[in-house]
Amino acid sequence: MCGIVGYIGNNEKKEILLDGLQELEYRGYDSAGIAIIENKQLKNFKAVGRLKNLREKTKDYSSEGFGVSIGHTRWATHGKPTELNAHPHMGAYSFVVHNGIIENYQALKKELQAEGAKFLSQTDTETIVHLFEKNHKINNNPNNTPWKAFQDTIKRLEGAYATLLITEADEQSIYFAKNGSPMLIGFKDNDIYFASSDTPIIGKATEVYYLEDGEFGYAHNGKLHLFNVDGQKKFTKQALATDKAMAQKDGYRFFMEKEIYEQSTVMNDTMMGRVLDGKIDFEELDPTLFDNISNIKICACGTSYHSALASSYLFERLAKIPCQIEIASEFRYKEPLLRDDTLFITISQSGETADTLEALKMAKRAGLKSLSICNVDNSSIVRESDAAVLTRAGIEKGVASTKAFATQTMVLWMLAIYVAQAKKTISKEVLEIELLAMRQTPKALLVKEELHSKMTRLSKRYLHGHGFFFIGRDLFFPLALEGALKLKEISYLHAEGYPSGEMKHGPIALADAELFTIALMPKSLHYDKIKSNVEELCARDVTLLAISPEAFDLADDFVQTTYSSHPMLEFFEMMVVTQLLALEISVRLGNDVDMPRNLAKSVTVE
Ligand code: F6R
Repeated sequence: MCGIVGYIGNNEKKEILLDGLQELEYRGYDSAGIAIIENKQLKNFKAVGRLKNLREKTKDYSSEGFGVSIGHTRWATHGKPTELNAHPHMGAYSFVVHNGIIENYQALKKELQAEGAKFLSQTDTETIVHLFEKNHKINNNPNNTPWKAFQDTIKRLEGAYATLLITEADEQSIYFAKNGSPMLIGFKDNDIYFASSDTPIIGKATEVYYLEDGEFGYAHNGKLHLFNVDGQKKFTKQALATDKAMAQKDGYRFFMEKEIYEQSTVMNDTMMGRVLDGKIDFEELDPTLFDNISNIKICACGTSYHSALASSYLFERLAKIPCQIEIASEFRYKEPLLRDDTLFITISQSGETADTLEALKMAKRAGLKSLSICNVDNSSIVRESDAAVLTRAGIEKGVASTKAFATQTMVLWMLAIYVAQAKKTISKEVLEIELLAMRQTPKALLVKEELHSKMTRLSKRYLHGHGFFFIGRDLFFPLALEGALKLKEISYLHAEGYPSGEMKHGPIALADAELFTIALMPKSLHYDKIKSNVEELCARDVTLLAISPEAFDLADDFVQTTYSSHPMLEFFEMMVVTQLLALEISVRLGNDVDMPRNLAKSVTVE
């Protein structure tokens, strides 16, 4: 849950590292640091807080000539966000940066301390650099090169890591290893770049190699030397994307706001070539993927879990196939019973979420076929899966996920129809209705100016109270969960999502005028049922914001949405309303909308 960058070459290194870290700040932003070796000079800077603090600290420094350099932006796992705990971590003559968790670090640390190593930080990462220097010193053996010491070091590491190490013992190389955390290597002429994702190197490198788990090696003299357990490996570079423009704010105040507005257009990309005349097609899928499949299990975390939950209604209703949804972190340790007639689907925006990735590996070990729905091509989850469908949402920078959720839900809806087609559980008439509704989705996602200003006005009434209940039924229950998650992530107010029929089984005890209830009341799905649930709450004097195409007398506030006979169109329109509500409440509270406290965009630790 951190971002790492590295560079070896003749260009000015400080700016390359800082620019790269800026792109990775979404992965963690409680401290940052860089280390550079050039002309036999070792320089190291660290700063707590956002990257701008490190920029300020390094403003009078610039690096000249050939050198090696590494940088890191941190999201604390072991040890508080202090300067001492910030990476790069230092030994006597070497520096290391690391993303992931070294699970056996306590045993290693004990062993190293017993031999005299002095630890400065509370991190697991620092063990790597001390272990490396210990291995390097052993016996003063001339064959004991830094490279050999590095190999001996990574052999002892357990857990997930992507790590870079530089050392005065070999001033012309960067050592690297990857296992379970993302890392890629960029190339241009004799320059070599390292990064946790490709945005930091777009515009700098022209070609890229995405490291596989278990790969390690070193970059030296413009060349990459790559190894795995079987020895030295040949590798093929691929062209690196050139378009970073999508990742800029385009005049919006926040990335999250821009991403809410983008949903309508990216949805066209999500559907392109897939929503066809009279059918759904996924040319990336081998139709035999569904042979002998009579059950679907979906695993994901957070927002992606909510899109999975919504899809379970669609898979069962349209494709008549049993579908179970699991939170990945729970699935991992429940000793699940897996049947080989189950298709195992993982959903992830980043494709790097550790729990989801591990769940996928478990399913694969059990012999299940796997499919991932992901926003990042070449991510760990995509590479690990038998098949993948990309959501095509473009880079999502706001930590609170919006367009990723919308596009995941769309892909899952299309997939439900795809399976229904294969299993012949859908009539031609119903199929036509579904396809028509899909084509209308971009319109349902358009953010109307009046709606946005209404949400801005309404938001001022929802800044206090003792909590929010988002309620809905059926497909709108997962949407209620997602609405509540959005709000709590960026407003830091307490919010829960509930199936509206559950309120009377306990939560209604909380009802009073200071309990804000956001009711999702679509006309196309169980309107009367949810209406009576909401009436029960109103009788207990809750403050009600009703979102519905149908005016609702008891509501304190009312947002009118468009009536549609298809629930998914109501779903997407109401989704936008809840996103804007969360956004505007967060803005009024003065919070950092794009980088809310305690969160990171990509959760690569358990
Ligand atoms: C919430 C949010 C998180 C992620 C979760 C899984 O706005 O973004 O809940 O959905 O951490 O991440 P991915 O989808 O990258 O696996």
